[in-house]
Amino acid sequence: MVTHTTTSVVTIERFIIEQERLHPEASGELSGLLYDLALAAKMIASKVRMAGIADILGATDHENVQGEVQQKLDVISNEIMIKALDHGGRLCCMASEEEPDMIPIPEKFKTGNYALLFDPLDGSSNIDVNVPVGTIFSIVRKISPGKRGTMEDLLQPGRRQVAAGYVIYGSSTMLVYSTGQGAHGFTLDPSIGEFLLSHPNIRTPDRGKFLSVNDAYEAVWTDEVKTLMRHYRGLEGDRGAMNVRYVGSLVADFHRNLLGGGVFVYPSNGKSPRGKLRLLYEANPLAFICEQAGGKASDGTQRILDVNPTELHQRTPLYMGSKLDVELADRVLSGIATAV
Ligand code: AHG
Ligand code: MN
Ligand code: MN
Repeated sequence: MVTHTTTSVVTIERFIIEQERLHPEASGELSGLLYDLALAAKMIASKVRMAGIADILGATDHENVQGEVQQKLDVISNEIMIKALDHGGRLCCMASEEEPDMIPIPEKFKTGNYALLFDPLDGSSNIDVNVPVGTIFSIVRKISPGKRGTMEDLLQPGRRQVAAGYVIYGSSTMLVYSTGQGAHGFTLDPSIGEFLLSHPNIRTPDRGKFLSVNDAYEAVWTDEVKTLMRHYRGLEGDRGAMNVRYVGSLVADFHRNLLGGGVFVYPSNGKSPRGKLRLLYEANPLAFICEQAGGKASDGTQRILDVNPTELHQRTPLYMGSKLDVELADRVLSGIATAV
């Protein structure tokens, strides 16, 4: 691991190169892909910043595959991701939360050894009220034979990710990514258009301050989930009460909890037995980052990164964040123990 202090100025490009040097066998393909993602992030950031001014707010008429009305910026961000990444020769295929099927690499472009899955704009229903939104990405190695990718490449368990990350378009734009050697954060300096290393080697506290959950669903939670919430609120066991913070943008809730310590919870419930969040575009990449920062992520029965996906838009219950708080969730939900 190359160590940096926050006082030295390190661009994301230089950081990626330095990380690559740790792997003499690396072809540079993954580094190139990460550059392209940083470029796409800057392009989306500029659109998000201009949203109010350019009068591109509001919903389009189209519904996405999840049956949700797409915001215009969802469509734009999806387009930016595809156009920034389809021609670099590093990908064999892609998948997006906003597209029903696999996104093939056009025949006119070369293909590469990786597959990319992404949520182009997470939390998009919050755009109209100026709440942070984000982009989430997951990179896996191509495993299918032949040049073009197949569903086999996309439907891999999260532990096989070679890199994952997210971008948060908040009061500043930050990109956090990991290639399995710690999680590192970069802040966009808009005056020079560069992501600069601002949060090297992020570590999340073992015990969290914040509980992020939408408790409007309380009436449809299972008894085990209700018990877990009593623990988190200090009404049962000896964990002590957490503060509740819920933005409703997964990236924003996750980012705050990653830095400050906390747990993000989106359980299954009577209405949605698999919860709401998508395994491949949301849970897997954030679980990868979370583990790299010393945290944990579970679906209540197993480690998120060990779930074998069977379909692109599969949903999963999610308990993710500070290690001890996720372990408490696993124990309470399995009925093994209730004490911390
Ligand atoms: P997206 O905007 O990509 O569809 O994701 C929305 C997600 C996620 O960002 C957030 O954590 C969750 O929806 C909030 O759901 P509820 O409104 O049901 O709490
Ligand atoms: Mn999302
Ligand atoms: Mn989305």
